[in-house]
Amino acid sequence: MTATAEKTQNTGESAKAGAVPSFTVTLKIARFDPETDSEQHWETYEVTSHATDRVLDALHQIKWDQDGSLSFRRSCAHGVCGSDAMRINGKNRLACKTLIKDVNPDKPITVEPIKGLPVEKDLIVDMEPFFDAYREVMPFLITEGNEPTRERIQSQADRDRFDDTTKCILCAACTTSCPVFWNDGQYFGPAAIVNAHRFIFDSRDDGGTQRLEILNDKEGVWRCRTTFNCTDACPRGIEVTKAIQEVKRALLTSRF
Ligand code: SF4
Ligand code: FES
Repeated sequence: MTATAEKTQNTGESAKAGAVPSFTVTLKIARFDPETDSEQHWETYEVTSHATDRVLDALHQIKWDQDGSLSFRRSCAHGVCGSDAMRINGKNRLACKTLIKDVNPDKPITVEPIKGLPVEKDLIVDMEPFFDAYREVMPFLITEGNEPTRERIQSQADRDRFDDTTKCILCAACTTSCPVFWNDGQYFGPAAIVNAHRFIFDSRDDGGTQRLEILNDKEGVWRCRTTFNCTDACPRGIEVTKAIQEVKRALLTSRF
């Protein structure tokens, strides 16, 4: 038998045998209903999964087939919208980007809301304090002078300067993994600084000084203790701590 023929036969055999084996996984989910509960408690569920399933798929199975009262946010299911950040086995992750097979499914998988924001119900937190900080850094282009008659030209090097921080999807995984934010809800938090960075280092923007003044506040960049939790948590691979350091440096040198 040729190699090609052998491969074809194996593929056929595994298809006949059921190519994607299933296994049972236990999820331990933090539940809280403000109408009936005085505090959070754990509930345990068993679901049938496949190696290609994500934690979001398991949550859907629970909600759709076992307990419709389970509440969580999700929209795109593909790592784009940033709405399903949660603590999975004690680490901030997007449920739609986390494969069950990668989070030690031999033991119960814990799923909790992200920390440091008020829990509204089950895995849903109040994101308003997070977005308040985001809005405060003015995450939009600020320009002075007359409207240009043509597009604002930028060199590739200028564009590269802030490329990393354009990738933010505002999931809050970084800010809610930060011990400073847990202890001081007034701290702007990594995500707001990342989004300020995106404009401070944009050569077309004239609002950098204003933003730096805002972040020079006692609840601004100087609260960062460089623990790198934010960089570890970011599902977009943004070098969050590096961005914060660059904003600190810009404040010290006022050159950006
Ligand atoms: S920097 Fe990363 S972790 Fe933080 S909000 Fe943006 S995408 Fe999420
Ligand atoms: S559901 Fe949109 S990022 Fe996960």
